[in-house]
Amino acid sequence: MDILDRNRRLEELDRRYVWHPFTQMKEWEEAVPVIISEGRGSFLRDIYGRWYLDGVSSLWVNVHGHRKKEIDDAIRSQLERISHSTLLGLGSESSIELAEKLINIVPAGLTRVFYSDNGSTSVEVALKMAYQYWIHRGVKGREKFLCLNNAYHGDTLGAVSAGGIDIFHEAFRPLLFDTFRAPSPYCYRCELGLESPGCGLACLERLEEILKGHAPEIAAVIIEPMVQGAGGMVVFPPGYLKGVRDLTEKYGVLLIADEVAVGFGRTGRMFACEHEDVVPDFLCLSKGITGGYLPLAATITTEEVYSAFLGEYRELKTFFHGHSYSGNPLACAAAIASIGLFEREKTVEGVRKKENILLPWLEAVRGLEHVGDARGLGLMAGVELVRDSKNREPYSFEDKMGFKVCLRAREKGLLIRPLGNVVVIMPPLSISEEHLAGMLDIIRDSIVEATEG
Ligand SMILES: Cc1ncc(COP(=O)(O)O)c(C=O)c1O
Repeated sequence: MDILDRNRRLEELDRRYVWHPFTQMKEWEEAVPVIISEGRGSFLRDIYGRWYLDGVSSLWVNVHGHRKKEIDDAIRSQLERISHSTLLGLGSESSIELAEKLINIVPAGLTRVFYSDNGSTSVEVALKMAYQYWIHRGVKGREKFLCLNNAYHGDTLGAVSAGGIDIFHEAFRPLLFDTFRAPSPYCYRCELGLESPGCGLACLERLEEILKGHAPEIAAVIIEPMVQGAGGMVVFPPGYLKGVRDLTEKYGVLLIADEVAVGFGRTGRMFACEHEDVVPDFLCLSKGITGGYLPLAATITTEEVYSAFLGEYRELKTFFHGHSYSGNPLACAAAIASIGLFEREKTVEGVRKKENILLPWLEAVRGLEHVGDARGLGLMAGVELVRDSKNREPYSFEDKMGFKVCLRAREKGLLIRPLGNVVVIMPPLSISEEHLAGMLDIIRDSIVEATEG
């Protein structure tokens, strides 16, 4: 079979057998799929040999680039010993070494690592631990969570219950547990109809009202620190994150910081909580933890929470939760290598330098006719497209404007994905300044062509 036949066959088999996530498969079956065969640095190559810039870090996971020698070598070396053994009833070398490394870099006070294998499960673990913590401490009635509108914490049912993006979550409403909801700190589309900074963080006051009325019913508040990612790259106004932490302490409620998207340098700090010196009770990590190589997650908590689960076996204080691949040794080896690279290559400092390219660019594209808002932190940004920037009228769902911009970008050699009307910018943290500038040029041109063309 020649190479062209093989490629056509792959396309055909993909359409016939693979059900893609978050994808309308009717449209997919009618289009020609891009099938990736190789990666190098910030670039991906398809089966026809075309190279594309990986503008979303392979769904927000890639940190040091593809085929990074140090991570490749670490996985190979682990492979020569063992690929997988369970953490149920056994330890494993790389999971232990990684746990120590994690504890050394997370905010001080977080001391216990519970592994799982994806972002959603890291959140499920935190929700269940927070709920059970109160039971083990003998406190009754703490059965609810306080979540933010526009939040995204993953696709398993607990994580969806804590999420607040109607378009993804509404269909599953009857299956979800009830939560309290505070406004999203989404200043461009303020739910309270106010303008930042003059509003004095009124959204935080709403959160406080809920805590004031219901703290004895609430196990924990859950947030995505500094940036609501899948909700449209909504950057928190200064003081909001610290304000949430202060309120959880004031009302005696636990805080879950879901850093699945923002952790590992993405926002210009190793962890987004560091921006406002916040130490949560739970830190949920995944995505970038392995440098974007293998599925792994960690829910990291305090001695206070951990100790509530200690007791005689018959007391049933054990945390009855675990996954077949929790703390997979290959993934842990990749994560150890990735953390080593953060130190050696000064990855986080690099993000801050590149932020100095990204932020002025965001400021400049705000001047385009159909850009309503452009916001970002570190190497994580979104450009919100609007039909009419004067009254902030959004494009309708059917316009698929974000999608159209991304298709244009693809023709120009850049792979990006929209979140509705928001064009997402999430390159690997290791992207060169030159490639970042090239990526931003393509996005700007694609926006102009799709919205004004
Ligand atoms: C903040 C946040 N939490 C959780 C998740 C879920 O992670 P996963 O897709 O690995 O389950 C995501 C994924 O985008 C996320 O952005």
